Amino acid sequence: MPFFKPRENTAALVDFTRLPRHVAIIMDGNGRWAKKRGLPRTAGHAAGAENFRTIATYCKEIGLEYLTVYAFSTENWKRPSDEVAAIMGLLKKYLIEAIEKMERDRVKMCFFGDLSPLPEDLRLLCEQTREISRHYDGVQVNICLNYGGRDELIRAAKAFAMDCASGRADPNHLSEGQFSGYLFSRGVPDPDLVIRPSGELRISNFLLWQSAYSEFYYTDVLWPDFSKDELHRALAAYQRRQRRFGGVTNA
Ligand code: IPE
Ligand code: IPE
Ligand code: MG
Repeated sequence: MPFFKPRENTAALVDFTRLPRHVAIIMDGNGRWAKKRGLPRTAGHAAGAENFRTIATYCKEIGLEYLTVYAFSTENWKRPSDEVAAIMGLLKKYLIEAIEKMERDRVKMCFFGDLSPLPEDLRLLCEQTREISRHYDGVQVNICLNYGGRDELIRAAKAFAMDCASGRADPNHLSEGQFSGYLFSRGVPDPDLVIRPSGELRISNFLLWQSAYSEFYYTDVLWPDFSKDELHRALAAYQRRQRRFGGVTNA
């Protein structure tokens, strides 16, 4: 008996002509990844940021249209201030490097969430990145930053109420499509697949409206270890699912 298992060709599991249009990822497990190695949590966040770069680049290579990642939630401010500062610093570093390579990568970058409480330099970098990449045609990467699904819905409800008060909208004619236009994700199709690494089986306030009919994929693998192979497994699992959207199929 050989002692090693031959490496599985996970790419062969995926039909790249039938990819989901939009994949969303809850990038969770950085802290546990660091703890397992006796490292500070911030080292886990650095490894997670590096992995985000790898996965986003790969999504562009395979021709995915939209990738949405949960980077920092409206609840993550509860964490120790040094951890929050380290995450903000890593985001800054990531964006500075992304801007340098932007012309070559042609990745369109958007941000979901209220950017106003972020450190000024980070907020400006987000705006700059969004502006420069506005017309790029590679994968659209949406970074959820100070994002919460409930916060997004409250903001949408407020904006809609204001439009009603000023006569620009009529509550009796509000449709799902129209309401979607008030969300951070306006114009972006709902995610087909939502992936949560790290073994947690919860949504943690991510894309509450948009994930109504998304397929879910969970794995115990921690985000910094979520490799292209793991992405292949998630895509293959998605392709085996039967989406019914409440209807019936003649299988
Ligand atoms: C996800 O990893 C990153 C953020 C929430 C910012 P965590 O930091 O939540 O890692 P765990 O869940 O503690 O392992
Ligand atoms: C969700 O992970 C938020 C991000 C990955 C950015 P959390 O680690 O904050 O979620 P909980 O606390 O386990 O639900
Ligand atoms: Mg976590």
